[in-house]
Amino acid sequence: MNKIIIYGSKYGSTEKYAKELARRINVEAIEYDKIKNINDYDYIIYLGALYAGGVMGLVKTLKKIDDLKSKEFVIVTVGAADTTDSNNVNNIENGINKQIPEEIYNKAKIFHLRGAIYYSKLDVKHKIMMKLLYNKAKNIPEEKQTPEIKLMLETYNKEADFVDFNTLDNIINVL
Ligand SMILES: Cc1cc2nc3c(=O)[nH]c(=O)nc-3n(C[C@H](O)[C@H](O)[C@H](O)COP(=O)(O)O)c2cc1C
Repeated sequence: MNKIIIYGSKYGSTEKYAKELARRINVEAIEYDKIKNINDYDYIIYLGALYAGGVMGLVKTLKKIDDLKSKEFVIVTVGAADTTDSNNVNNIENGINKQIPEEIYNKAKIFHLRGAIYYSKLDVKHKIMMKLLYNKAKNIPEEKQTPEIKLMLETYNKEADFVDFNTLDNIINVL
């Protein structure tokens, strides 16, 4: 199988995972907006950072593929949310289901990793988005806060780094 790792990363945590995976399985890793010959590959391992539920670059990448049916896909999300919480995983997967064709969603092997968020490094647009979310979340009574909201309130304006290369093992096992 002709494999390729493609990734969408804004601040680098997804890129770190993609490059480490590339090193471990000896497959090339390339950014989603730099890939030119995507149709030459038949096994696509896509790693994308989560932004408001969207998997960065995934939809654009799928649009470049002529014959989706003939390809195999592994989709890996990288987000801040705790992926040992099944509610978080359900939210992420429902989001992916809405973004990509049903046939791809059904056949893809899907994994979720945790990334990092460094508030001081966010661009202006993301700082504003997080501030709006924070202002809304802080007024939610504690008993009604989901784990995702709690995490956001706890880490707001700080640095939170959950990158753990050991979590790549589950993915490598199915490749
Ligand atoms: C504006 C914004 C929206 C985000 N939305 C989500 C989200 O919906 N789900 C999630 O788990 N993480 C979310 N995150 C956290 C990022 O996915 C996390 O920081 C990820 O590691 C970023 O990857 P990157 O460093 O490769 O860009 C968000 C972060 C920002 C700044």
